[in-house]
Order: sequence, then structure tokens, then C-alpha cells
Amino acid sequence: MNNLKTGIAVIGCGSAVPQNQLTNEHLSQIVETSDDWISSRTGMKNRCISSETESLSQLSAVAAKNALDMAGIAASDVDLIILATSTSDDLFGSASKVQHLLGATKAAAFDLTAACSGFVFALITAAQYIRTGMYYNVVVIGADVLSRWVDWSDRSTCVLFGDGAGAVVCQGTTDRDRLIAGAMYSDGSQNNCLNLLYESQSQSLVEDITVQSGTYQPITMNGKEVYRFAVAKVPESLEKAMFQAGITSEDIDWLLLHQANQRIMDAVAKRLKLPAEKVLSKIADYGNTSAASIPLTLDAAVREGKVKPGDTIAASGFGAGLTWSSAIFKWGQF
Ligand code: ACO
Repeated sequence: MNNLKTGIAVIGCGSAVPQNQLTNEHLSQIVETSDDWISSRTGMKNRCISSETESLSQLSAVAAKNALDMAGIAASDVDLIILATSTSDDLFGSASKVQHLLGATKAAAFDLTAACSGFVFALITAAQYIRTGMYYNVVVIGADVLSRWVDWSDRSTCVLFGDGAGAVVCQGTTDRDRLIAGAMYSDGSQNNCLNLLYESQSQSLVEDITVQSGTYQPITMNGKEVYRFAVAKVPESLEKAMFQAGITSEDIDWLLLHQANQRIMDAVAKRLKLPAEKVLSKIADYGNTSAASIPLTLDAAVREGKVKPGDTIAASGFGAGLTWSSAIFKWGQF
């Protein structure tokens, strides 16, 4: 325990995507769709799809290593790894495997599942450990390989998802807290809008006792309902976060939303009166990478030199659960 650490700084980011690229043209060979439909409805052009050798754990470890390199921190100095994912390689969790691949020998590691809100949930969770002084260096990873769970004959969902991993390094600071606001929300009454459900099959063991063996079924989504939910709840939660931080949208340098649909990002920006230039988007290149989309987009923007140390970022994740979460933080070491 280190009681001196009062705040949290986000000091490094990294990402990793699979090599294979699936374009809108490819998809139009699989289902009845077109580049025009997909790009005009979603903004997507391309997504990366994991091969047999690109597991969730491997992508996560590469993303985390890149983030640690940027932060200038050795893996052996990491205290905690939180892996936000809904598509673990192992239902018992993949975070420990990532810890091993990284060589983060003293770190505790666990998975956290909150679908496309997972990264912001994990960032806020990491902040609690740092603020109490329990941990100093925390790696937060958002990673998903939803391509494993897509029904490739369902054109309403198969065009949307891609695979990838993104990570940030958070560190305790005695200076001011750079995570200046954040909150997490859930509404299980809308749980049936977006699912990757376990379907059991009864198997008789002995007299009167059956076990439920089965497997998970492909993603189902009520796109219109999720769309409506996102454009209502995301701006509302960001407005609350800005109020909590004591800032207005004029103080926001970048809007960093879960990359589900360009039209959702545009609608949220409009509601918050933020110009299009302030919206970070990599949806054309990666599609919807679920928990990975926010750190993946952040990493690209930092490495392109768009996002600079000290910039104020308003981030929001939303998705299955239904869940949503917003955080406002100042990026980098400054
Ligand atoms: N190509 C061509 N036509 C299609 C396709 C396709 N890929 N998909 C659907 N259509 C058709 C439909 O069949 C329908 O045809 P019909 O009018 O003859 O019935 C028509 O296009 C319109 O379909 P809608 O579903 O109404 O299309 P919409 O404009 O709502 O766009 C979309 C669909 C892109 C999925 C949108 O609803 C959306 O982005 N929703 C939000 C999704 C989201 O945010 N998910 C985030 C969470 S992800 C997570 O948590 C894992």
C-alpha cells in the first residue's frame, strides 16, 4: 500500500490488430449487401479478423507491451492488469495468460466483462485501486475477437464487427487527478437487445439428474433499439460527467466514443455542440471492435500526433447489458 498516491494519470497507450482485413467488398461476396449500404449506414469500410494464431491473449499482450513501452515502464513494475473483454480465450479468464505473455510477474490480473462499455468500466475500476493507494502501475486492456461469435449469414450483424486490442497504462500521481470525472451505468431491462447467449442442451447423468451442456450462440442485436439507446444515454452521461468535472463542451479537445456507428458519433457530437473535427474515429478501418474500440482509436490518434499531452478527452462506451459509461481525462505525461 502506498498512501501517497492520490490521483491517476494515463501515461501510455498501445494497440494490436490482426493482419487479415475484411473489406465491404469481401462482405458483399458473403451476404446480400454493398459497400454503399455499409459505409452510408455505419461509416465502416474495413475490419481486421483474427487468424488461428492471433488469439485474444496474444493481441492483448502486444497492445499492453506497446503501451508500456510508450509509458517507459517495465512489465516487471506492473501491479495490476485489468482485461476488459467479452470474448476471452478461456471462460476462466485470459488476463493471467496476458500477464504471463507480458512477463508482468508481480501483477495481479483479472478479466472484466461489460461488452462495448468494458474499457471505460475498466478504466474507472483501475482508478479506484490507484486512488486508494493499493496499486501504482495498472494496465487497462480492452480487447475482443467478436468474429468468433458472428453469424456470417446474418447481414444485419456480420458487417459490423472486427477484432483488435487496445491498452493504456495508468499510474498513481500525487499531482492533480487526471481522470476528472467518470461514471458507469447499467439497464438490465433492455438486456435482450444485444446478446451472445449460452444455449444449453439437457444431458441425463443419472436418474432425476440432468446437466446443461451447451455452447454460446452467435450475436443477436436489435440494431434500432441499441441505436436509440446510444444517442439518448451517451450524451446524457457525458453531460453529467462534464458537470461533475466543472467544465463545458468548449473545454473538450476530443470526443472518443465506442466505435459502433459513425452516425451515433455524429449525433452525440451534435447534441454536445462539438464540431466534427473533435470526433476521433477509426471506424472506417476497424469497424466495431467492442471493448477494444476506444483504446484502439486513442492509440491511433496519439501516434498520428492528433492527441497531445494535456488534451482533455471525453470518452464513452456503450453496448450490451445494456451498459454505458463515460469518463473525462487529461491525456499523457505533461
Ligand atoms: N446490407 C444491406 N441491407 C441491410 C443490411 C446490410 N448489411 N443490414 C440490414 N439491411 C436491411 C434490412 O434488412 C432492412 O431492410 P427492409 O427495410 O427491407 O426490412 C434495411 O436494411 C434497414 O435495416 P435497419 O436495421 O433498419 O437499418 P438501420 O438503418 O437501423 O442500420 C445498424 C442498422 C447499422 C445496425 C444500426 O441500427 C446501428 O448502428 N445500430 C446500433 C448498433 C450498436 O450501436 N451496437 C453497439 C453495441 S455492439 C456491442 O455491445 C457488442
